[in-house]
Amino acid sequence: MKWSTFFRVKTVFADQKDSLSLKRVFGLRDLTFFGIAAIIGGGIFSSVGKACFDGGPAVVYLFILCGIACVFAAMCYAEFASRIPISGSAYTYAYASFGELFAWIIGWALIMEYAIGNIYVAFAWSGYVVHLLDQFVYELPRWLVTDWSSAHDAFIHTTQIGVDNDALMAYKFSPTLAGFHIVFDAPALIINLLITILVYRGVKESRNATNAMVILKLIVIVLVIVVGAFYVDISNYKPFMPKGFGGVMIGISAVFFTYIGFDAVSTMAEESKNPQRDLPKGMFYSLLICTVLYVLVAFVLTGLVPYTKLDKIDPLAYAMAEHGLLWMELIISFVAVIAMASVLLVFQMGQPRIWLSMSRDGLLPPAFAKIHPKYKTPSFATIVTGILVGIPILFTNENFVLDFTSIGTLFAFVLVCGGVLMLKPRKENDTKGFLLPFINAQYLFPLLISCLIIVVQLTMPNYFPKLLTLGNWNKIFWFSNGVYWLFLFTLSILSLFRKWSLIPLVGVSICAYLLTGMKSNNWYWFFIWFGLGLCIYFLYGYRKSKLAISQSAAQKSNFTNT
Ligand code: ALA
Repeated sequence: MKWSTFFRVKTVFADQKDSLSLKRVFGLRDLTFFGIAAIIGGGIFSSVGKACFDGGPAVVYLFILCGIACVFAAMCYAEFASRIPISGSAYTYAYASFGELFAWIIGWALIMEYAIGNIYVAFAWSGYVVHLLDQFVYELPRWLVTDWSSAHDAFIHTTQIGVDNDALMAYKFSPTLAGFHIVFDAPALIINLLITILVYRGVKESRNATNAMVILKLIVIVLVIVVGAFYVDISNYKPFMPKGFGGVMIGISAVFFTYIGFDAVSTMAEESKNPQRDLPKGMFYSLLICTVLYVLVAFVLTGLVPYTKLDKIDPLAYAMAEHGLLWMELIISFVAVIAMASVLLVFQMGQPRIWLSMSRDGLLPPAFAKIHPKYKTPSFATIVTGILVGIPILFTNENFVLDFTSIGTLFAFVLVCGGVLMLKPRKENDTKGFLLPFINAQYLFPLLISCLIIVVQLTMPNYFPKLLTLGNWNKIFWFSNGVYWLFLFTLSILSLFRKWSLIPLVGVSICAYLLTGMKSNNWYWFFIWFGLGLCIYFLYGYRKSKLAISQSAAQKSNFTNT
């Protein structure tokens, strides 16, 4: 294995023009709507409750911070989308710029964003469906609507204060088979099955249906803000930051998850009329609209009910019900169910397409590139996606997958921003599409970091002494904070020599900062996942890569000729 072979770069993309190519019909408005369609879903309808519970009303800061991080990441995606306007998202960009190993790692991380993210959305979808059924139709047995992991957890911690009573009841009153309690989230499984069948049969992405759906979502979110504002109780804002900034940071996965999806716009490159101009704008506009709405929703929600009551899978409907607004509860639940189904569809379609690209490159077995003769869809990859989403629904819970998907996506963003740092400057006459402004970070970045140190020291005088005092050694604190400062220090030194561009550098720094908020347990799972990915690459992709095969054939023929 030669070191350089890990960085072999793909330069020819003829295989992208395949039977799956659609007509170039998407304009700027469609792309913006597509972005919003992918962004607004399980996050703002569901995980926002957990973030508010952890951080209190100050969670709005986290929404602003994550919004800023995503704008920086979007700028880097935009730079790539302008240079390489073909589908395949970050995986393809990486393959064209930094080589195969890097591309594989990003492709592997994207599974966490697309497939694992859908597990959360399926759970959230189920939460709202069950809420609707409970309120307006029929209360299903709890063992049929609760995930096994939460029920088992509640049973083990029966005596603890704050144990989830519904989950406990689900476990206690469930049927058993050979002593095993049968508890599972049937609606989450059913929606996954239905979406998989739809994607398998080739649901056409209809521009009009997506646009109508987005308008519906936007109306409901605006309704929540406007109607909710009349019921806000100022006393709910006290204390504003009940568990300090540390408490706010606990909600990082939940808040970051709400933004995931803007990058899906970059998968529409081959279907948009003017990808180089419209893809970046579509990403920015959708992000901007969602950031403003999210901050307002978080502010209104924490004013409607005390934050301690918001740890629910359906917090928006719950908050309205608390004020007796049954009509709002009904509208929100109904639209949430439709909205989340559309997010499931976008991601469940995206995952097989990424695998399809990877398989065509030889990094995955050919079955992943198999196109169904009648439906013209990547049939095998679609079924595997359905299984990958479906099986964990049986034994994980929503909190676990939320953390897992956020860590994977943030990691991919760090790589994409870092990737832009490595790109060669464009030729002078190449001004097509979005041009990431070049601001020389050589002295500016170290200066910014120095200012940051001063601000932290002035606002939190105990922070650095705690970090530097070995007597106060705390592994988690050191791991998340110490390593991060070392990372910033290294970037500052490197920027002095490399004259990097400031925007991607700040993007790397903010996304990496969000990563420091992840719990240690998540890192453990992340590294297992990452290790598994590398094993598969070395056992399969490295040898079967089409690029490797063509390069070695070229070498052989050169050798024979000489
Ligand atoms: N941001 C997407 C959602 O909230 C993943 O469902």
